[in-house]
Amino acid sequence: MASITIRNLDESIKQALRERAAQNGHSMEEEARLRLGQTELAESQPIKASASSANYDASLGDKRILLIIGGGIAAYKCLDLIRRLKERGAAVRVIMTPAASEFITPLSVGALSGDKVFSDLFDRDDEHDVGHIRLSREADIIVVAPATADLMAKMANGLANDLASTTLMATNKPVLIAPAMNTQMWNHRATRRNHQTLLSDGIHFIGPNSGEMAESNEAGFGRMAEPMEILGAVQAVLAENEGPKPLSGMRAIVTSGPTHEPIDPVRYIANRSSGKQGHAIAEALAQAGAEVILVSGPVNIPDPKGVEIIKVQTAREMQKIVETALPADIGVFVAAVADWRTVKSSDEKLKKKDGKGPSSLKLTENPDILKGIGHHKNRPKLVIGFAAETEHLEKHGKAKLKRKNADWIIANDVSPETGIMGGNQNTVHLISKEGVESWPKLSKQEVAERLVERMVAFFDVETIEI
Ligand code: CTP
Repeated sequence: MASITIRNLDESIKQALRERAAQNGHSMEEEARLRLGQTELAESQPIKASASSANYDASLGDKRILLIIGGGIAAYKCLDLIRRLKERGAAVRVIMTPAASEFITPLSVGALSGDKVFSDLFDRDDEHDVGHIRLSREADIIVVAPATADLMAKMANGLANDLASTTLMATNKPVLIAPAMNTQMWNHRATRRNHQTLLSDGIHFIGPNSGEMAESNEAGFGRMAEPMEILGAVQAVLAENEGPKPLSGMRAIVTSGPTHEPIDPVRYIANRSSGKQGHAIAEALAQAGAEVILVSGPVNIPDPKGVEIIKVQTAREMQKIVETALPADIGVFVAAVADWRTVKSSDEKLKKKDGKGPSSLKLTENPDILKGIGHHKNRPKLVIGFAAETEHLEKHGKAKLKRKNADWIIANDVSPETGIMGGNQNTVHLISKEGVESWPKLSKQEVAERLVERMVAFFDVETIEI
C-alpha cells in the first residue's frame, strides 16, 4: 500500500480531500487511505474495482468506443481515458467539439487514439467517408466526456446542429455521459431539468463528483468523474447490453393509456389515464429482452424505448390491433379502456338547441379486450389485467380475475386523493388464484420492473446475472 503525508500535499488537493472526507464521514487520513487503496485496487483489477456489482468480461478487446470530447477544462482527462481504454484493447474514435479544441489539441488526441479526430459536420471527406450516421452506428457505446451544460441541453432538447449533437441524435447505441461544469451550472434549474430528461431518455451518467472547481474558491458538485471511474461505467453499460436476457425470445402485447370514443368531430368520451404505467411496463419488458407490441391510446408522454408502438384512438381499434398481434406469450392489459361509446358518433358538430336542455347521448358497451383475450383460443400463457377501483379493491379485483380469465390482476385504488391517475407513483395489489400480495408505494417504473421480475419467475427462465 502506498503512503503519503497529508501536510505535504498541495493546498488544493488538501481542500478536495477535506471535502470528500466530510462528505463520507471520514477523517482526512482515512479518506486518503481509502482513495489510495481504491486506486491500487483499480490499477491491479481495473474493471471490477469500478463497477463492483457487475460480473462481466474484463476485456474491451472487441469493443468500439466513440468518445465525444466537449469543451471544458476536464477535457485534459480524456487523454488519460483514451489511454486506459486503448490499454484494454478498445478501438477508440474521437469527435471533438470546436470548444474542446480550445482545451486540448486534436493532434494529441489523434496520437493517443491512433485514428483521425472528427470535428466538422460539413467536412466533405468525413461525410463521404465516415459521416455522422456511420460514426454512431460503428460504435458499441458513445461516451461524452466532459459533458458540458451546453451538450446536455442539446441532448435533452434534441438539437442537432454540429457533428457531436447530430451523432448523438442519430445513434441507436447506449450513451454514457460524464458531466463536468461549475457547481452553479450543475445546480441550475435548466440543468436539473435536462438531467431528469436525459435520465428518462435512458442516458447513462457517471458523476459528476464533488470537489474543487477550476474557478478559485469554488467547490461542490460538477467535477468530471476520473478516467478509471468512466472506464468502469463503460464496462458496466456494455455488460448491461450484452448477452441473452431473461425474456429473450418471448413476445408481449401491452395495452396502455385511455381510449377516446368520439361523440362528434370535436368531442369524445375519455378518462384520466396518462399511460405512464402501461408505457413503463412495455419498456421494462423490452429491457428484459421481450419483443414488445405496445398498443396505446392517446397519451402525452414519450414513446418507450425498444418497443413497437401502435397508436389507436378507440376501444374497437385497440381490440383489433391486439387480436392481430396474437400469438404472444404475455398479454398485459393496462389501458383504461372506455366502457362505453356512442351508438353512432355524429359526422357534424352537435349544436345546442335553445331552451331544450342538453342532448342525451345514446351509449353502447365497448368490447372487453382483456376478457376476449383471456378466453381466446390463442390465449397468451400469461394474461395480466389491471383493476382500477375506488372501493372494495380486493373483491372487485378477484371478480375481474375470474370473469376475464386472467392469471393476475393488478388492482389499484384510483380515488382522486391517491393521485395515482396521472401521477408517477402507484400502490398495487397483485391478485392471483394463490391470493393477494400487497406491494408498497412505488414509482410506476419500479412497479413495472417488479412486475417483469415476477413474469420472469413465472416462466422460470434462468436470469442472467450481470
Ligand atoms: N379492459 C379491457 N377492455 C375493456 C375494459 C377493460 O381490456 N373494455 C381491461 C383493462 O385494460 C384492465 C381490466 O380490463 O386490465 C379491468 O379494467 P377496469 O376498467 O378496472 O374494469 P372494467 O372491466 O371496466 O369494469 P368496471 O368498469 O366495472 O370496473
